[in-house]
Amino acid sequence: MAASLAFSGSRCAANNFLKQNVIGKCKAAFHCRQFSVSTACHVAGEPEGPRIVTQDIPGPKSTSLKNDLNNLQNPATVQLFINYNKSAGNYLCDADDNLFLDVYNQISSMPLGYNHPALIEAVKNPENMQAFVNRPALGILPPNDFVEKLNSSLMSIAPPGLKEIQTMACGSCSNENAFKAVCFWYRNKERAGQPPTEQELRSCMVNELPGAANLSILSFMGGFHGRTFGALACTHSKPIHKLDVPSFDWPIADFPKYRYPLEQFQKENAAEDTKSLAHVEDLIDRYKKKRPVAGLIVEPIQAEGGDNHASDSYFRKLRKLCLDKGIAFICDEVQTGGGPTGKFWAHEFWGLDVPPDVVTFSKKMLTGGYFYRDEFRPKEGYRVFNTWLGDPSKMVLLQEVIKVIKEKNLLKNMEMTGADLIKGLKDLQNKYPSKLFNVRGRGTFAAMDFPTPEARDKAVKCLHKRGIHCGGSGSRTLRIRTALIFETKHADIFLDRLNQVLQDDF
Ligand SMILES: Cc1ncc(COP(=O)(O)O)c(C=O)c1O
Repeated sequence: MAASLAFSGSRCAANNFLKQNVIGKCKAAFHCRQFSVSTACHVAGEPEGPRIVTQDIPGPKSTSLKNDLNNLQNPATVQLFINYNKSAGNYLCDADDNLFLDVYNQISSMPLGYNHPALIEAVKNPENMQAFVNRPALGILPPNDFVEKLNSSLMSIAPPGLKEIQTMACGSCSNENAFKAVCFWYRNKERAGQPPTEQELRSCMVNELPGAANLSILSFMGGFHGRTFGALACTHSKPIHKLDVPSFDWPIADFPKYRYPLEQFQKENAAEDTKSLAHVEDLIDRYKKKRPVAGLIVEPIQAEGGDNHASDSYFRKLRKLCLDKGIAFICDEVQTGGGPTGKFWAHEFWGLDVPPDVVTFSKKMLTGGYFYRDEFRPKEGYRVFNTWLGDPSKMVLLQEVIKVIKEKNLLKNMEMTGADLIKGLKDLQNKYPSKLFNVRGRGTFAAMDFPTPEARDKAVKCLHKRGIHCGGSGSRTLRIRTALIFETKHADIFLDRLNQVLQDDF
């Protein structure tokens, strides 16, 4: 009882702080102007610009908290401790009261920035309280509004052609279960719909053939699909993710490696597409004899691997190859999905005749999961299953996120802000040709390269010191992952600080 009173007391204090510092200001201030030349969703409650008050980043409070955490776990990846009460819109406030313009957004997972009033209202709404208090085992006892919630949130933004959905907790387990769904589908085809044999049922229990099927999932060098065992077998971005973990002998294809600017290297990049497609086909054929490929998984833009792009025509051909070979096409939209590219799903740019078989999501969607074509529905229960299978409280928030995206036309905002951002980055690339290269992006899902990994790491640190929170990817890439409420005025601040870094710090 004492503990719960203490908890509710501190919650109250936090709520009061939020009310005074964020909600009150934002409520009056979150409004959008109609689109004319530019689209905009003003967040007038958010700070006007970054403000750095400590000499070093991290400041003394973050450093001290990190030392405390060190007593409990390895804090190596922790950059800053954050005061989420004081963070608002596109701005992150750290424990030392430094205010950063956030172009990284919790590894690309904040759709509406910090403390968006629509989400705060949803949490305060008594009708939603049960969803936050009671976390159900969705596979057996879903709430009575579950179907309605699915329809009004996730299904309302389902990729064209995909009518079924499975929710999950995170990106890795979405991919993990997508792989299983694909293997069930493949074996079901091989069995021509017949039930499994006694021998299959017995042998799967001891991880042996034929029950533990000898199948594989093809993935791409440079791809990232998560850190659980199956997902990790398909992840090939950095050794630190994979070292010491047993893995599968599954095929790994080369992803196209483009040269920039794209207009200048069309012939070379088309040759890269052809080479990669030939490699995929060769691997599928070679593995047919030893470990047939049930499906392949690919990101529309290899994100963690360094923002590696491939052309729309490459993906159309890859999709067709999967259809020709009878293997499933899994599109991992965990990082690209939810709007930053200017479309809800990045694969919508490709103009596919047949949709992907499975599209996995998480991050900006607040809940994990995957959409799939109906033939990928497992026939029996408990084939794709875990205790929670997601979290309905996240769907309450997602419903609000989708409403705001639609009402405020935030996909258009991403398209237009992204165009300004990329133009500004290209200008800087022209101004500092020996310091910045390979500007690329779709919407605000943008990236640039530095000459070396050390130069990239230095740029991230220097930007921090100038009030920009950003992150790296690949070996020498700086990636931009904005919230959907990021506007040209925010892009201008980022570009100005990047210009200062390139001019003064290098
Ligand atoms: C493309 C992609 N797939 C899968 C994942 C794994 O998601 P999670 O970290 O939620 O397990 C990530 C995470 O960064 C990702 O970027």
